[in-house]
Amino acid sequence: MSFEASSDFDTKNVRIRTAQPGDMDALLRFEQGVIRTERPMDPTIKEGQLHYYDLNAMIASPDIELVVAELSFPEPSFPEPSSAERSSAERSSAERCPTLIGSGYARINPSRHYLKHSTHAYIGFMYVEPACRGKGVNQLIIAALKAWALSRNLTELRLDVYCTNSNAIRAYEKAGFTQYLLNMRMGI
Ligand SMILES: CC(C)(COP(=O)(O)OP(=O)(O)OC[C@H]1O[C@@H](n2cnc3c(N)ncnc32)[C@H](O)[C@@H]1OP(=O)(O)O)[C@@H](O)C(=O)NCCC(=O)NCCS
Repeated sequence: MSFEASSDFDTKNVRIRTAQPGDMDALLRFEQGVIRTERPMDPTIKEGQLHYYDLNAMIASPDIELVVAELSFPEPSFPEPSSAERSSAERSSAERCPTLIGSGYARINPSRHYLKHSTHAYIGFMYVEPACRGKGVNQLIIAALKAWALSRNLTELRLDVYCTNSNAIRAYEKAGFTQYLLNMRMGI
């Protein structure tokens, strides 16, 4: 099931919260969305159905903060509907139910022994529903993960991104990341 954002989409209506087991359907859908994006960027990814993450373990881990972006629609300010209007009002009420539109996680990782910091927060599983992209949802997700990292006394954020994933690179730079290390490969 894909999500269609209405034209009045506003990030003010987006809340970032810790993921729960009940979010699994959306998380699995987001995971396949990330894989679909990255497959053409990496000839070494296996063919066929696959998963990147053990999502249940991530939700349960005290060293991982897995978050979802939840879109809620504001309550209307008009009076109670008449019974004739109720069916459409019920429909719009259903439409106001929170909808999950994105994900991300931060994990406490050990850092290389020669660095100033002994641990850092590694960020991944960044996904925003296509209809909601380009509106800063990813920045809200990163801000929430940054706050979590600081609450765990981590002062360094790291992530990996394919060098051809220009939308993601742009999103991370907008959130404050800078390009740092170039990872190279060669099939032999
Ligand atoms: C990467 C991703 C999470 C960014 O989320 P986002 O909420 O769209 O991020 P932003 O709103 O900050 O937009 C980032 C950039 O995406 C591009 N963008 C804008 N509208 C877009 C759209 N409708 N569709 C795709 N990309 C768009 C723009 O380059 C934008 O930068 P700009 O605002 O300076 O023009 C999202 O594009 C996504 O889910 N991509 C597929 C999965 C993926 O690549 N994940 C990252 C793995 S490392």
